[in-house]
Amino acid sequence: MTQATLSLHDGDLALPVRTGTEQEVGIDITMLRGSTGAITLDPGYGNTGSCLSAITYIDGEAGVLRYRGYAIEDLASHASFVEVMYLLIHGELPSAAQLSSFKSQLSLHTLLHEDMKKFYEGFPPRAQPMSVLSAMVASLSTYYDAEDDLNFVRMLAKLKTIAAFSYKKSIGQPFIYPRNDLDFVEDFLHMMFAVPSERYEVSPVVRRTLDMLLILHADHEQNCSTSTVRMVGSSGADLFSTISTGISALSGPLHGGANTAVISMLRAIRADGADYGKYVAKAKDRSDPFRLMGFGHRVYKNFDPRARLIKAAADRLLEELDRTDPLLDIAKNLERVALEDEYFIKRRLYPNLDFYSGIVYRAMGLPTSMFTVLFALGRLPGWIAHYKEMRENRDRLHRPRQIYVGSTLRPYVPVSHR
Ligand SMILES: CC(C)(COP(=O)(O)OP(=O)(O)OC[C@H]1O[C@@H](n2cnc3c(N)ncnc32)[C@H](O)[C@@H]1OP(=O)(O)O)[C@@H](O)C(=O)NCCC(=O)NCCS
Repeated sequence: MTQATLSLHDGDLALPVRTGTEQEVGIDITMLRGSTGAITLDPGYGNTGSCLSAITYIDGEAGVLRYRGYAIEDLASHASFVEVMYLLIHGELPSAAQLSSFKSQLSLHTLLHEDMKKFYEGFPPRAQPMSVLSAMVASLSTYYDAEDDLNFVRMLAKLKTIAAFSYKKSIGQPFIYPRNDLDFVEDFLHMMFAVPSERYEVSPVVRRTLDMLLILHADHEQNCSTSTVRMVGSSGADLFSTISTGISALSGPLHGGANTAVISMLRAIRADGADYGKYVAKAKDRSDPFRLMGFGHRVYKNFDPRARLIKAAADRLLEELDRTDPLLDIAKNLERVALEDEYFIKRRLYPNLDFYSGIVYRAMGLPTSMFTVLFALGRLPGWIAHYKEMRENRDRLHRPRQIYVGSTLRPYVPVSHR
């Protein structure tokens, strides 16, 4: 099949069909408006491909997720987050020499300009960490030239410093500076949890698990925040301003904010006597705005491969740390009840990445307010890879159309006559 035919008004229009390397089929409508005056209408873009991309492949029906052709399961078991960053941004896994130079670059650029520390003083104590993150990242664009080649590395190296400083500010502890002798994840944990008054040793199991979680979050093709990055980046905006908009998009509860919402929901269910049935019934009730947070996905319709890996990681981590978490039991029971329920089966609603990630973060001692920040830290290489790809492909300015449904032309009425 190389073309599709559209019949509109009294004519037919042959539209070319593009087939991807995994045989995904897209009807190319680039010529549609010019030839017919019509546009397509697809609120929420569920059927719209906005670009050609060689970064991430998802088969939502089969539960497949691959970065640059590598299965997520393979990368989660064998690669490090730093290797995955390199892979997403540069297209290939790094050689030993490339990896070593990438790591040293990531260590060399972790410091923030000292003046930026003053910004933290201006935020109120209860500021949302995602809002602080977005504002701090946007402010990086006031320090560096827009076209500086080092900006990708700067962004990757500094986000964890910005994130850890936000946390320290929120709990009133002194900032802990980055350390070049630690690896990426150790350095982040150190900046988060060390205090000047005592030694802090990074737990190997926590380091390993966080590394894997960051890999699982690293890219997810044209999701809301990545599409935002491509949209804003298409205007020619600089990297830092663009990434800050991705962070804002990720903050919402229907996107990255879901991991925090899941924990609030599990806590509420526990406080209410762990009555799973009641909450499943609420989620099914159309007149009730409540949804089972961490359930359902725009793309995955059988299972989310990341959720499986995270569920196993949660079990492993709690066992190795010799801890229990009552919220994990609630989560497992809720999943069981929901998966047996006709409503969820019919709509193909399964736990997504966020359903168990909060449990893992809690076990690591990370506060709920930082969960979405960790998502941003993981998603950053994906955003950068898409920004880079979009620029290299010279994508057009993103500018969707609309079908106007407002008033037709009418004369201005002076205020005295309204
Ligand atoms: C992720 C999400 C926004 C995807 O939404 P979507 O693809 O637009 O799907 P829709 O909102 O059209 O939902 C389809 C149907 O399933 C229902 N549904 C979807 N997610 C649901 C949930 N978590 N709980 C209860 N019902 C849900 C909708 O009410 C709708 O039912 P209807 O057909 O009777 O109207 C949605 O599933 C959701 O809100 N999930 C909870 C938030 C979450 O976990 N987000 C993280 C995503 S990684």
